[in-house]
Amino acid sequence: MMGDQAEKLRTEALHKGLKPPSCRRPAAAGCRVIAVASGKGGVGKTSLVLNLGLSLIHMGYRVVVIDADLGMANIDVMLNTMPAYSLADVVSGEKTLCDIMIRGPLDLKIVPGSSGLFDLANIDHAKRQLLLDQLNGLEAEGDFILVDTAAGISRNVISFIGAADDFILVTTPEPTALTDAYGMLKVLSGRGLKKKSHVVVNSTQTFHQGQRTYSGLERVVRQYLPAMEVNYLGEVRYDQAVSRAVHNFIPFVLSKPRSAASVAVKRIACRLAASGEPEKQDEGGITGFISRLRKLS
Ligand SMILES: Nc1ncnc2c1ncn2[C@@H]1O[C@H](COP(=O)(O)OP(=O)(O)OP(=O)(O)O)[C@@H](O)[C@H]1O
Ligand SMILES: [Mg+2]
Repeated sequence: MMGDQAEKLRTEALHKGLKPPSCRRPAAAGCRVIAVASGKGGVGKTSLVLNLGLSLIHMGYRVVVIDADLGMANIDVMLNTMPAYSLADVVSGEKTLCDIMIRGPLDLKIVPGSSGLFDLANIDHAKRQLLLDQLNGLEAEGDFILVDTAAGISRNVISFIGAADDFILVTTPEPTALTDAYGMLKVLSGRGLKKKSHVVVNSTQTFHQGQRTYSGLERVVRQYLPAMEVNYLGEVRYDQAVSRAVHNFIPFVLSKPRSAASVAVKRIACRLAASGEPEKQDEGGITGFISRLRKLS
């Protein structure tokens, strides 16, 4: 689909499709940095981040999405936008974060990731400093900053999760995805980086498969990782609206607001917003995120 057609459909969806949300932004809210990650790849992180971001905007929040997959960035691909610049240009000192930030549907702000792999730990001190200083500006841009990470437990990913206020672990019910999800919690708990994790079970096939999957994971975590607290945010059913949305470059909460996936993601957004105090850290918001990222990367 051509970009302008997609844009037209997005605008129509904006005016017709979205009904008033059932839960709205509470009066007081600070900036919350939320990392979204998974042990196994391809479990639906990017789809969730995009649609969760739009659902939060619909509830009245301002949202920034950082495409922190520093090797295979693809939020822009899902929206059929071709950002001229990326985080790599910020790292090289040629652009500021404001220069590279693009606007998605509903005024979702997107920081495009890098298309060539770079490792936060391996860029030189001055460049890393530059990048982290630039991230400071995001405090003013969003109530929620959603960080879409690469799959797995690379050093970059662990640093982003460790630095964030909250962490959403995405898994599917498949044993391989679940095993990798547990492996990620084990690393985070073992290094003392996180004490709490929200969990979303994606692509469920049957009713309550998400709850059963989560209960199994929770049991193992309680037994073997007693220092880790898990919190179930909900399940998203396998829904063709999701893959159609990727093909059409229109997020499913806009193109199919009444689909099973949209209803589920909106529910997850409500639960996330209501989940209250993030894990106690020395400092919250983007300032805390940056200072922890400085130490971890
Ligand atoms: N609930 C769902 N129902 C149907 N298809 C889904 C669902 N969630 C994700 N998908 C499909 O799975 C594919 C992978 O999703 P996505 O790119 O969001 O995963 P990812 O975890 O971000 O992948 P990566 O690890 O490569 O970054 C997409 O093409 C999407 O269409
Ligand atoms: Mg992704």
